[in-house]
Amino acid sequence: MNKKMRVGVLISGRGSNLQALIKACEAHDFPAEIVVVVSNTPDAQGLERARRADIPCVVVDHRDYKNRAAFDAEMTWALEDAKVELVCLAGFMRLLSETFVEHWWDKLINIHPSLLPAFKGLGVQRRAIESGARFSGCTVHYVRHEMDVGPIITQAVVPIHNADDVGALSKRILEQEHRIYPMAVRWIAEQRVRVEGPRVIVSGYGPPENVLLNPAPK
Ligand code: GAR
Repeated sequence: MNKKMRVGVLISGRGSNLQALIKACEAHDFPAEIVVVVSNTPDAQGLERARRADIPCVVVDHRDYKNRAAFDAEMTWALEDAKVELVCLAGFMRLLSETFVEHWWDKLINIHPSLLPAFKGLGVQRRAIESGARFSGCTVHYVRHEMDVGPIITQAVVPIHNADDVGALSKRILEQEHRIYPMAVRWIAEQRVRVEGPRVIVSGYGPPENVLLNPAPK
């Protein structure tokens, strides 16, 4: 196989998406490898997951930097030191500076637990339930300057059930996050993904044929 794409993962907490990426990368035919994990919080659970997988970890604690520019510059340094080619935000809960986003333009992706452009920001599962929407899901997208905005690579849709609380919906969405994030990284590493303005073209894959209805018709 050709050389694997070098991936850096940015985390702030639990790191279950990081874990899904670690697992995917363990397959010998997966075209990417995680070469560094960067956390802005020293006690992020995800750091433990990375250490268990023998992945180098760097803590860049935002509280140690006088401003966002200095914090972001340190993260870029850590990522470049590891010769990262693709940066994956995986539950990274800090806003990034324009300079950082521009530096990693089309090499910086994020996973978000809603069907963007609906429900940007925080508390999105609760807001999806409260809205009365019948579906929610998750989105992998390229990062642009505005929060939770950028060309969408892939999305997974899950139903919202009437009995759902935030925990139940979050769990249903998270299961799909763990499927689609490694899938998107694979496509990028296989060079199937092209950004054309607001749209992403993934070569070799067509649209699904089915339409989803919720409630399901009898
Ligand atoms: C995930 O649900 C991810 O989509 C979300 O934070 C959670 C992190 O979980 N990210 C965002 O809301 C970013 N806007 P994890 O640490 O277990 O991967």
